Amino acid sequence: MTRLLPVIAFGQWLLALVWLSCVESTLVNITVDNYYRDPLTNTTWVTYTPTNAWKLSLGTACDSCYAHPDPSHTYFRTWNEGVYNPGGGLGSDMYASFDFEGVAVYVYCVIPRAGNVDMRFVLDGQQVGLYSRPPNGTDTYEYNIPVYVNKSLSAGNHTIQVHNGELGGNQSIMLLDYIVYTYVPFSVYHHAPSL
Ligand SMILES: *[C@@H]1O[C@H](CO)[C@@H](O)[C@H](O)[C@H]1NC(C)=O
Ligand SMILES: *[C@@H]1O[C@H](CO)[C@@H](O)[C@H](O)[C@H]1NC(C)=O
Ligand SMILES: *[C@@H]1O[C@H](CO)[C@@H](O)[C@H](O)[C@H]1NC(C)=O
Ligand SMILES: *[C@@H]1O[C@H](CO)[C@@H](O)[C@H](O)[C@H]1NC(C)=O
Ligand SMILES: *[C@@H]1O[C@H](CO)[C@@H](O)[C@H](O)[C@H]1NC(C)=O
Ligand SMILES: *[C@@H]1O[C@H](CO)[C@@H](O)[C@H](O)[C@H]1NC(C)=O
Repeated sequence: MTRLLPVIAFGQWLLALVWLSCVESTLVNITVDNYYRDPLTNTTWVTYTPTNAWKLSLGTACDSCYAHPDPSHTYFRTWNEGVYNPGGGLGSDMYASFDFEGVAVYVYCVIPRAGNVDMRFVLDGQQVGLYSRPPNGTDTYEYNIPVYVNKSLSAGNHTIQVHNGELGGNQSIMLLDYIVYTYVPFSVYHHAPSL
């Protein structure tokens, strides 16, 4: 899997880089798709554990997927689906993980209102948050929902893990769409990816 971004993303990234070289002191948000590479580093992406517990939808919902959100409302028309089963087995400890260098992080999901959603957020090995939405009896989806926000990270490298499900809890459906992190542009001068 090469996870190359569609060409428009490179355009946006190049614009951002040009802009960064002019406006050194301003922070910048980098948006990382659930599937494609981090457009700033071009060498990192979101990983999924265990890999075979997760399903990927590229443009259309995969055949065996539980959820069928509208792809046109998702970032790059892609999302990853995980179904947590408290009984054990494949979906009993499943998480998405992403490494980044920045001072803030925002995790965005699609929320299926027909199913239950429980998530736990682990930052640099410490649990820092929970998100829960019980089903509301309607087969609809909410898009671009910031399920975890942290604006007070120390400058440097961090790992955010999004675990699906609450230990000993109910079945949970997680639909990861994208992660945004806030980068300190000064660092660009030290390790900018070569063009
Ligand atoms: C980054 O995105 C978040 C969420 O949209 C926003 O609140 C924040 O102001 C943005 N930060 C920058 C530096 O653009
Ligand atoms: C990103 O990495 C891939 C794989 O190594 C490479 O093919 C592609 O040209 C790189 N893109 C940029 C903008 O550096
Ligand atoms: C369930 O949530 C959806 C999406 O937010 C909303 O449109 C719908 O009205 C809600 N249904 C009920 C019964 O609250
Ligand atoms: C943000 O991360 C720090 C650790 O870097 C943690 O102490 C703090 O509780 C987190 N804040 C939120 C809102 O999760
Ligand atoms: C963060 O990690 C990257 C990749 O490993 C490394 O190049 C960079 O120097 C690190 N930044 C800091 C502040 O440690
Ligand atoms: C599991 O779902 C039931 C029914 O919606 C609810 O009453 C219960 O509190 C949930 N349990 C947990 C641990 O969230």
